[in-house]
Amino acid sequence: MGKSTYLLFILNILFFRNIQAQIYRPSATAEQRANELLATMTLDEKIGQLTLYTTDWGSTGPTIREGYKNDIRSGACGNLFNSHTVGFVRELQKVAVEETRLKIPLLFGFDVIHGYKTIFPIPLGEAASWDMEAIGRSARISAAEAAAAGLNWTFAPMVDISRDPRWGRVMEGAGEDPWLGSRIAEARVRGFQGKKIGDTDAVLACVKHFAGYGAPIGGRDYNTVDMSERYFRDFYMPPYEAAVKAGAATVMTSFNDYDGVPATGNKYLLTDLLRKEWGFRGFIVTDYTSMNEMVNHGVVADDKEAGELSLNAGVDMDMQGAIYQRFLKKSVEEGKVKMADIDEAVRRILRLKFDLGLFEDPYKFCDENREKSVLLSPENRAAARDISRKSIVLLKNDKNLLPLDRNRKIALIGPLADNKGELIGNWNGAGNANDCVSVLEGVRAQAKGEVLFERGCSFFEAKKEWLEAALAVAKQSDVVVAVVGEQAMMSGEAAARADITLPAVQEEILIELVKTGKPVVVVLMNGRPLAIPNIAENAGAILETWWLGTEAGNAIADVLFGGYNPSGKLPMSFPRSVGQVPVFYNEKNTGRPFDPNSKWTSKYIDMPNAPLYPFGYGLSYTTFSYSDPKPDKIVFKKGENLQITVSVTNTGSRPGEEVVQLYVRDLVASVTRPVRELKGFQKIALNPGETKAVKFTLTERDLSFYRRDMTFGAEPGEFEIMTGGNSADVKKAKVLMTE
Ligand code: GLC
Repeated sequence: MGKSTYLLFILNILFFRNIQAQIYRPSATAEQRANELLATMTLDEKIGQLTLYTTDWGSTGPTIREGYKNDIRSGACGNLFNSHTVGFVRELQKVAVEETRLKIPLLFGFDVIHGYKTIFPIPLGEAASWDMEAIGRSARISAAEAAAAGLNWTFAPMVDISRDPRWGRVMEGAGEDPWLGSRIAEARVRGFQGKKIGDTDAVLACVKHFAGYGAPIGGRDYNTVDMSERYFRDFYMPPYEAAVKAGAATVMTSFNDYDGVPATGNKYLLTDLLRKEWGFRGFIVTDYTSMNEMVNHGVVADDKEAGELSLNAGVDMDMQGAIYQRFLKKSVEEGKVKMADIDEAVRRILRLKFDLGLFEDPYKFCDENREKSVLLSPENRAAARDISRKSIVLLKNDKNLLPLDRNRKIALIGPLADNKGELIGNWNGAGNANDCVSVLEGVRAQAKGEVLFERGCSFFEAKKEWLEAALAVAKQSDVVVAVVGEQAMMSGEAAARADITLPAVQEEILIELVKTGKPVVVVLMNGRPLAIPNIAENAGAILETWWLGTEAGNAIADVLFGGYNPSGKLPMSFPRSVGQVPVFYNEKNTGRPFDPNSKWTSKYIDMPNAPLYPFGYGLSYTTFSYSDPKPDKIVFKKGENLQITVSVTNTGSRPGEEVVQLYVRDLVASVTRPVRELKGFQKIALNPGETKAVKFTLTERDLSFYRRDMTFGAEPGEFEIMTGGNSADVKKAKVLMTE
């Protein structure tokens, strides 16, 4: 080796050691380490850290990039998604930490929405459990499995409130209510992020889709969202705020516009609200090419302008759009964006990579043994079965048809009765349908009598011979269990439905089964509330089971045979017809509230105003009675807490769980207020004959809202306090708040 080459070699070592020294100052804070590393970076390397590309392992959007390995090697891409398993992550991480100048490790993101390998109920189903501990455990296990498969970032929880079941993405959220949605958002963020970011069983959470995405006009995905700031802050904003305050590390922007400006370029949302008002310190990532799509929105002329609008609004990372990669350098040269803002964006990302411990050990999430032992473990399956049972909602149970006697002869009918592929629902991570327990398998595992099976029809097709076979087994049996519903891909992203009924052939076969005179239990599987008035009228019993995931068949059998007494409550109203949509419990009174004795009131002339099943509704195999709510003070001062006690009794013959709900109404305020708002709930277990006094505390914040001047606070005056087992069946008390 010549002298000059040797000198260069030594200088190289010294330089790298210097870089290594800067990077590996474990004693420094993540902030300090990020700043020191930032100081050594070229603009190209900085822009690489602001870039996120998908691999070709999954397609969750309209474009796929080739050559992502070269992007890593060149430093053009510092983060990946849709790539997992220890083997693949290790292979890609190696390129980043061995073949680039600064060896900055990659983030690996993935949509672990309701499970990685063990698949839990879809989030709307989990929301029906109203069990924050079970929901938190589901997220905890999902994170542990994802982290065992090389991932360190999930694009969850989705916390978008929605009042419109036509929108396919209601399956991903927590339904229509801001209070329930906020508690669930907190549980999921804490579940995903575990004890500490950097633990090898935890991943970065990503609150999405910020903001207001769940209110597209017509329920049509990606459509315009248009609402007042008050409406947004009262009904749609709380779960985002709750998730951020629970410590979510990242936030994802939404595809929609808000107040005329697409969220991905909306400085009010991303900087004024998220960062300044809420103090969010993590990083903001766009949704899939949502930056590029601002050209379609018509607020920018081209991709370069989209990048400038986004960075100046507060977006740190560009998902799949390759805009920062292609144009940011030029934008800096033209003075359209500031280097200081680029540095701040890079700093936010590097801080989290340091917090994750990736610089100390870029392969810390790549342990083959952990991957083998954690994924789909018996404990994880048991947890999935537990929350799956708790997510089931008993909508009807005439003459106590359920639970079934195990010795009875059962005819199991329907396109979903033996199906596995649909059970993992949409956004099913790395789930494998073959790992699922079908309803047929679950029922046969627990039944003592004969279980006959016929599909009876497909999702959309009927055949005479199929129907005849189904009616034949029905006539031979004591009871029919019909398992019907949507296909999983009929909900989720880009899957809005203008007609939210059950596919016609399935409704037709149900009516034929009822005509046999045999009692019919309907097991519904769906990703959204469905309009099922005919089924509600004709079925003997109805179980809403959503998409329950890997342990679906066992959980449904547990409920069918009474091994578990159903306790689920609807997180979203079920309309009688799509014509009622949007229909939700926390509506306002209007100037002409419905009055059956007057023509001139707010109503339909062809249908009741009330939904088929209201928010918070769900039956049990036992019954419960409620006392009147008892406030500890009838008159209380603004700022004083109010204690509410309600006694609940199990008046039936079986132990059961009840979600006791607390609603509030502000009777006179400076702006119109909902006729009721959920402000508390407690899920309690009661033995037959047992009574429990359930206590709630109402604080001034609980009674606060965005007043006429848009300040947040409570206003003195009369309030109605309501408690009950659902939003429509409550007992009331009045209290007076004074100055
Ligand atoms: C999709 C979804 C978003 C998801 C992202 C990455 O378009 O809107 O929820 O996290 O792309 O897959």
